[in-house]
Amino acid sequence: MTTWNQQALNPPIEGVERNVPIPNINNLGAMFAGASNFTITGSPIFNVHQAIGSLEEEASTTAPTGYIPDMTDLGPVSPFFTGRHNILLELANYFSLESLSTKIHERKIFVLYGMGGVGKTQTALKFMHTFRTRFTKVYLIAASSEESIKASFYDIAIKNGLSKSSDWEAGFRWLSKHEEEWIILYDNADDPKIDLGPFLPQSSHGNIVVTSRNNTLKQLSIKSKELKDMIPEDGVQLLLNHAIKDHQPTAEEELKAMDIAAKLHHFALALVHAGSYISEHNCLNTYLERLEKHQLTLMNRTLPQSIDQYSLSVYATWDLSWKELDEECQTFLRICSCLHYEGIPRELFQRALDNFRRENGHSLAAYPFLAIITSQRLEWDDTVMDKIIKTIRSYSLINVVKEARDSKYCSNIYIRCRHHILEIISDSLQEF
Ligand SMILES: Nc1ncnc2c1ncn2[C@@H]1O[C@H](COP(=O)(O)OP(=O)(O)OP(=O)(O)O)[C@@H](O)[C@H]1O
Ligand SMILES: [Mg+2]
Repeated sequence: MTTWNQQALNPPIEGVERNVPIPNINNLGAMFAGASNFTITGSPIFNVHQAIGSLEEEASTTAPTGYIPDMTDLGPVSPFFTGRHNILLELANYFSLESLSTKIHERKIFVLYGMGGVGKTQTALKFMHTFRTRFTKVYLIAASSEESIKASFYDIAIKNGLSKSSDWEAGFRWLSKHEEEWIILYDNADDPKIDLGPFLPQSSHGNIVVTSRNNTLKQLSIKSKELKDMIPEDGVQLLLNHAIKDHQPTAEEELKAMDIAAKLHHFALALVHAGSYISEHNCLNTYLERLEKHQLTLMNRTLPQSIDQYSLSVYATWDLSWKELDEECQTFLRICSCLHYEGIPRELFQRALDNFRRENGHSLAAYPFLAIITSQRLEWDDTVMDKIIKTIRSYSLINVVKEARDSKYCSNIYIRCRHHILEIISDSLQEF
């Protein structure tokens, strides 16, 4: 029986070398465009489309794990997108037409960081969609794992006509070499264990936006911004956009919405959840009472996909970060959660340890907690405290604000997820 191979095609097709093993032949579909069935003398009927299908299957086995065709397409912006004018303006100015990366021969990176659910991805998407005509190519890289980053580069390679048998680095190299105004959104680059630097195309052109919970990524660029809670006006609007869809809100309803939005600290994810709950249960007037009584249930609610693609509840969002913390950091947060969430002076811990040592307080209830956060040494050590605070900040679960007081600076810690941690504490107490 005749075996079919590249030699059977005579003359060779342009761009296809002789003796190339068949599974490596690229672009087979284009090569046989228009062909359907043909017979090779002495061979059974050979169906080109079947053959192409099986070869393409083989070739696509080289795709990195997690690859999905077109995975680097931009996702949609929420139809309820509200506000964020200042940061959108800042992004527009930074990536302005006057200072194109190819003009100034500089790779431009903007790091947008902040707590989970605050609205980083939505804001970045809004910017990319609004200003997409400024850029030659627009890609989204799911940066939550090395695997998905590699799979995304593979998709970029395919999108730019490189063959399916290329490796993911082909996409990476394509971006570095093509001096164009492409823009990439590295979205959700939250994992502090991933070193993102080597995954950014090394070039003197190109535009990059990074969104991350990890504030240490601001070191990647001179341009970064912490995305915080919404301004009250926008926060109320976002709540109302979700809560009331069939009429213009009355003045009374707006007042109610103001109270609710303030209670939720104008935190985007919580506002979306509250708004959709209010809409579902028609309970704008009684929402605050329900929240007081059933905080755990309401904050653990997930949204139907039809309302929003963000699939996590408020608490589940914070839980992802919480679970990444080591025991020292978790204990530190547990202690902070028992205090008022605003402005916890760092020196409080120093004083607690000083008192502990003075009173030899091994019998104190605080003893096990203080032991953990000092690695059992029970003495104040700035470097240990710095490390704990830095780690928790890298997940944006606390803010630290330096304030001048009594002619010296104090670091105050602002905790963002106090109620959630109190729930975790009460859960773990129930386990005893
Ligand atoms: N400006 C906004 N207008 C309307 N909805 C918003 C806005 N910002 C955020 N949201 C909504 O809040 C939720 C969280 O937003 P987003 O995914 O942007 O947060 P994130 O900061 O990227 O969170 P994570 O760190 O978990 O990735 C989504 O439901 C999103 O639709
Ligand atoms: Mg995000």
